[in-house]
Amino acid sequence: MAYGGSGMGAVVGPSGATASTIKQVKLERESELRIEVGNDAPLRLRLLNGTAEIFGTELPPQIWLNFPPTLKFAVFTWYGATVELDGSTETDYTADETPMVNYVNVHAVLEGRRSRAKASSPDDPDSSQGPRVIVVGATDSGKSTLSRMLLSWAAKQGWKPTYVDLDIGQGSITIPGCISATPIEMPIDPVEGIPLEIPLVYYHGHTTPSNNVESYKVLVKELAGMLERQFAGNAESRASGMVINTMGWIEGVGYDLLLHAIRTFKANVILVLGQEKLWSMLKDALKTEPKVDVVKLQKSGGVVLRNTKVRQRARSLRIREYFYGLANDLSPHSNIANFSDLCVYRVGGGPQAPRSALPIGAEPAADPTRVVPVNINRDLLHLVLAVSFATEPDEIISSNVAGFIFVTDVDIQRKKITYLAPSAGDLPSKYLIMGSLTWLET
Ligand SMILES: Nc1ncnc2c1ncn2[C@@H]1O[C@H](COP(=O)(O)OP(=O)(O)OP(=O)(O)O)[C@@H](O)[C@H]1O
Ligand SMILES: [Mg+2]
Repeated sequence: MAYGGSGMGAVVGPSGATASTIKQVKLERESELRIEVGNDAPLRLRLLNGTAEIFGTELPPQIWLNFPPTLKFAVFTWYGATVELDGSTETDYTADETPMVNYVNVHAVLEGRRSRAKASSPDDPDSSQGPRVIVVGATDSGKSTLSRMLLSWAAKQGWKPTYVDLDIGQGSITIPGCISATPIEMPIDPVEGIPLEIPLVYYHGHTTPSNNVESYKVLVKELAGMLERQFAGNAESRASGMVINTMGWIEGVGYDLLLHAIRTFKANVILVLGQEKLWSMLKDALKTEPKVDVVKLQKSGGVVLRNTKVRQRARSLRIREYFYGLANDLSPHSNIANFSDLCVYRVGGGPQAPRSALPIGAEPAADPTRVVPVNINRDLLHLVLAVSFATEPDEIISSNVAGFIFVTDVDIQRKKITYLAPSAGDLPSKYLIMGSLTWLET
């Protein structure tokens, strides 16, 4: 919880005197304090007495924690607590109606399954597999928050569940445009979020899969396959299972993609947040699969709606955080490369085959999973490119990525490209993937 912004503490009142902004809030058992930090200044908060948690992670007693501007969160207590706030909030109110008891009951069932998986023979791939949970629901239903709680509660009890984030719009593991997975070994820090140590990342390059549904499906399949191989050699991860977070796109193609993800990851616990219709559709679609539970859960009244502008801003901040760190604690490097040193590709487009090679009457169609080389020109300016682990172009679509660069200048005359990278030195690969993800450095 190392957000280190400034401007906290006492404020200067109209008379010039400093007025303390500290306020105490007493929370009754099973209630929560819902907070939206103000837009301009961070907020300090500490647990004075009792016990409380933020989205599944317990608060340390007495220690002031700093929460950055605009963060929205809840301090929940099972048995009662008093917290102290220092700074201004956009809103803060106490709620005693929460779905937390239902959520923790789900956690208890998952714990039972993990223990059974651990006690089974590792040679039996079915019974040694812990629960594979997928959280689904409309936009702003609290999917990411519930995923977080389930992961933190599991980690607190010593499991190492794998977090899979399939949301390329508002992902919580790395920058937008990606699907990714990472083991969760400790309760998730309420401010810093998911630790960024070596996540497994695949780059789609767009903030919605509708730009290229097929390539999104290919990446989902690759990620699932990779995790399956990792689980095969790691009984602890296998028994801990996974929690898969999804996008809020649940209609039409979005629904098809949900079913695709459920089947590809062999999810066996489907948690549907606040969506009667989606719950009944999924229940029906999966009724022939006996080992799959489709569970309906209430949405929390505390979930905050986010409009397009807020989402765009959140995306931009994620990219900034990747290069500069949450508290400006990283120093990215500006590097210059020759055009000839880099090979940029995009996925999709280009005719699949020349008309002459097709059966009579067939129309050439663009192959959405074809990897096409891109000429380096000023169109790349301000794009975020992924650095692929591929060792040849054919592998690009199925390879995960090492990280990202941000193109800050393209000099056509000198044939040089300037980019920001997390570190100095050569890139781990010359194969770069472009999509439509741009960033205006702010
Ligand atoms: N109980 C709560 N009290 C206060 N804020 C909350 C609560 N639950 C969730 N939030 C906040 O509401 C916002 C939306 O929640 P969340 O990100 O979990 O929704 P989502 O369904 O994942 O949204 P999306 O469809 O965009 O992925 C987040 O900023 C989250 O921190
Ligand atoms: Mg989400």
